[in-house]
Amino acid sequence: MSQIFQMSSKKDWFTDWFNTKYYHILYQHRDDYEAQVFMSNLVNYLELPKGASVLDLACGKGRHSIYLNSLGYNITGADLSINSIKHASESKNDSLNFIVQDMRLPFPLKTDAIFNLFTSFGYFADDKEDIRVIENIKNSLNQDGVAVIDYLNVVKTIDKLVPDETILLDDIEFHITKEVKNDFIIKKIEFTVEEKYHCYYERVKCLDLARFKKIIETAGLQITETFGDYNLHAFDKNNSNRLILIIKA
Ligand SMILES: C[S@@+](CC[C@H](N)C(=O)[O-])C[C@H]1O[C@@H](n2cnc3c(N)ncnc32)[C@H](O)[C@@H]1O
Repeated sequence: MSQIFQMSSKKDWFTDWFNTKYYHILYQHRDDYEAQVFMSNLVNYLELPKGASVLDLACGKGRHSIYLNSLGYNITGADLSINSIKHASESKNDSLNFIVQDMRLPFPLKTDAIFNLFTSFGYFADDKEDIRVIENIKNSLNQDGVAVIDYLNVVKTIDKLVPDETILLDDIEFHITKEVKNDFIIKKIEFTVEEKYHCYYERVKCLDLARFKKIIETAGLQITETFGDYNLHAFDKNNSNRLILIIKA
């Protein structure tokens, strides 16, 4: 059996893993329905007027973008993954566009809202890069614009960490191990397809509310509200699954 190690370097695991079809197989339960419930609740809470422009930053295959566009918003979905943008672009129209974009580089547009959804933050080893992403968000928001970051609740995630599990999806047996090391929650994902062994990593920084506050304020923005799930219940650090931040100037 041949062994293929897909991770070219620890630094840019996110360039490789999210660009594979296997990421989408493993996370297939994070589906359109989940995106639609969250986006309906969010735009309702924000009172975002129809026709407003939204940047879906790290949009993946565009599950949130496509639904937001159907609600009457002008959407740009941006992601580093060429394959995901190619897939999302099949749904393009006059008010729904997709671009390949690294969130660490300035965004080529001004917009009323910027959404960063489903743990699309906290990948970079250097905190300065996290601050740079927030600065890019700040610089691309129109006056009175709003940003939203939807992150995992690291407190609960670490408390309930399942160190070892095997998941069977689409005839692929994913063996997953998790650990907390050097300020990151590290998920190792191993599987074999057609006799080829694959090994990928996800590394997500242990950013709790206090650390987010520091990063966001350093970049010149403020957290104005927090929620703990996609139905926008209050954030509770021990029990919430998500940490959803509403951010303004
Ligand atoms: C966990 S997925 C979430 C995707 C999408 N928001 C969703 O909910 O389906 C994280 C996304 O971040 C993208 N990403 C990772 N690093 C990035 C970067 N430096 N700049 C832009 N996008 C990035 C990945 O390609 C991936 O699509």
